[in-house]
Amino acid sequence: MSSIPTYTLNDGTTIPAFGLGTWPMDDTQAEREVRDALETGYRLVDTATNYRNETGVGRGVAAASVPREEVVVTTKLPGRHHGYEKTLASFEESRARLGLDYVDLYLIHWPLPRVDRYVDSWKAMIKLREEGLVRSIGVSNFTAGHIERLEKETGVLPSVNQIELHPFFPQDELRAFHAGKGIVTESWSPLGRGTALLDDPAVAAAAEAHGVTPGQVVLRWHIQLGALPIPKSANAERRRQNLDVFGFELSPAQVEAIADRPHRRVGGDPETHEEF
Ligand SMILES: NC(=O)c1ccc[n+]([C@@H]2O[C@H](COP(=O)([O-])OP(=O)(O)OC[C@H]3O[C@@H](n4cnc5c(N)ncnc54)[C@H](OP(=O)(O)O)[C@@H]3O)[C@@H](O)[C@H]2O)c1
Repeated sequence: MSSIPTYTLNDGTTIPAFGLGTWPMDDTQAEREVRDALETGYRLVDTATNYRNETGVGRGVAAASVPREEVVVTTKLPGRHHGYEKTLASFEESRARLGLDYVDLYLIHWPLPRVDRYVDSWKAMIKLREEGLVRSIGVSNFTAGHIERLEKETGVLPSVNQIELHPFFPQDELRAFHAGKGIVTESWSPLGRGTALLDDPAVAAAAEAHGVTPGQVVLRWHIQLGALPIPKSANAERRRQNLDVFGFELSPAQVEAIADRPHRRVGGDPETHEEF
């Protein structure tokens, strides 16, 4: 058994508080790295139809010496498949590529407000959950307004919203909204893509104080916010370090100092970003 703490979702399911991102791994890399990650303690894997590596991820899960039921496999619906019937068909294609009987967590990748079909997709996802083909359903890159609309039109809240979140873009308001609705915040680009953030003086100072790496400080910051980070690493040593963040605690002053800066995104704005 892995020793990663868990979050309980608003549908009663528990998921690990930490996971592995797989973009931009290809199938071959994903198979190798997912297998190794699972065998060294990871229990949640994040992919998407648009990463074009679901086949490799599925093979990695199958090859690992970890029981399938201990692993949370996440995939995502692409923009080109928004709509009720298209969502059901797209899910079947993902499930076949992954080679799984069921998917643990299925997310709408982007809301695409201009296309305006995400509520139809959400209705299809509710059906997939009712049929047992998906354990938990959620969204990604949704604003509070998009989520309120799902709730109003279907009565069903997402269990997870996977959003851009790191100390350069801490998303205080949206996280507070999630907390009020019992939605788990999953952090994409949790390391800010491994760039300037890891050289930041406040991060470096906390790393020195705790005898850990800058990456570990940033990932611990996510845990203390109550978020679920999914750092990507194709390097086994960095992956092992990244996961080793449950044995130290940042002070409230360190948590604050790490995000005390002008904020900026590395990715798209959900109101306008279009990705099909
Ligand atoms: N829902 C969405 O719209 C969305 C958007 C973007 C990403 N995602 C998901 O979120 C995952 C993570 O986001 P991301 O890949 O954009 O960014 P990230 O995890 O913040 O950063 C990944 C980069 O950091 C490097 N890295 C990893 N651990 C490190 C460490 N300890 N020290 C220094 N560098 C380190 C990696 O290189 P190495 O591999 O060489 O270690 C890679 O270049 C993705 O893989 C994907 O699954 C979702």
